[in-house]
Amino acid sequence: MSRRSTGEVAAYDEIADWYELEFLGAQQDDPIGVGRALRDLLGEGSGVCLEIGCGTGVHAALVRELGWTPVGVDLSGGMLRHARGRLPVALADAARLPLRDDSVPAVISVMVHTDMPEYPAVLREVARVLTPGGLFVHVGVHPCFCGGFADRTDEAAVVIRPGYLDGHWTKQSWTDKGIRDKVGASHWPLPALLNAFLDAGLAVERFTEGGAPLPVVLAVAATTRPGTRRTPRP
Ligand SMILES: C[S@@+](CC[C@H](N)C(=O)[O-])C[C@H]1O[C@@H](n2cnc3c(N)ncnc32)[C@H](O)[C@@H]1O
Repeated sequence: MSRRSTGEVAAYDEIADWYELEFLGAQQDDPIGVGRALRDLLGEGSGVCLEIGCGTGVHAALVRELGWTPVGVDLSGGMLRHARGRLPVALADAARLPLRDDSVPAVISVMVHTDMPEYPAVLREVARVLTPGGLFVHVGVHPCFCGGFADRTDEAAVVIRPGYLDGHWTKQSWTDKGIRDKVGASHWPLPALLNAFLDAGLAVERFTEGGAPLPVVLAVAATTRPGTRRTPRP
């Protein structure tokens, strides 16, 4: 069992086997476009590609196929147990990466920002460890159409209830077959999420969405530019 420095047990330790075998096992053919978004925004490249919150390492093969060398960090030893055969990993907090400044050319964050209440601090860490001009790809739950406020019971008629405007953490979910009723989710409205990139000194370059008929995923590609690291506004 892994613990955060705060003493909190890593939430995914409890569900790691379910996540690997049942949750990922049930997903065929990239149903919400996570892989497509990652492929499009990361593109071909070489050198280390660090995945923050790599979980069971399900994206390592695609990262390798694109020419990068995948490495991962995650807070959950249970999730990393499944990842070990897929990529080199370390047990670490994405908000305190065990890496030097300006040391990796690419970082990816895939379906994790809702698991990281401190995501603005994580983005500052990403900007710190990326080499100047390095690439950051965020593929995350779409803040407008997914969350405790969204009822997706009928995919053709998603119901958006009040709650989008409030940044919050909730275990509320329209389904008990997903992750959020088990570990909860943080939520930032779209401007707060995008401003966190800018406040971290990341220059946003490209966007895409995944999932239909309403997107489930919002993906962002950003780069670091020398001298653009900024301290967040109060
Ligand atoms: C929904 S899973 C996604 C895993 C993987 N990226 C994927 O797409 O399958 C979220 C992961 O983020 C990890 N995580 C949450 N907070 C973290 C933190 N502060 N630092 C590192 N990993 C964290 C969890 O342990 C979990 O493995």
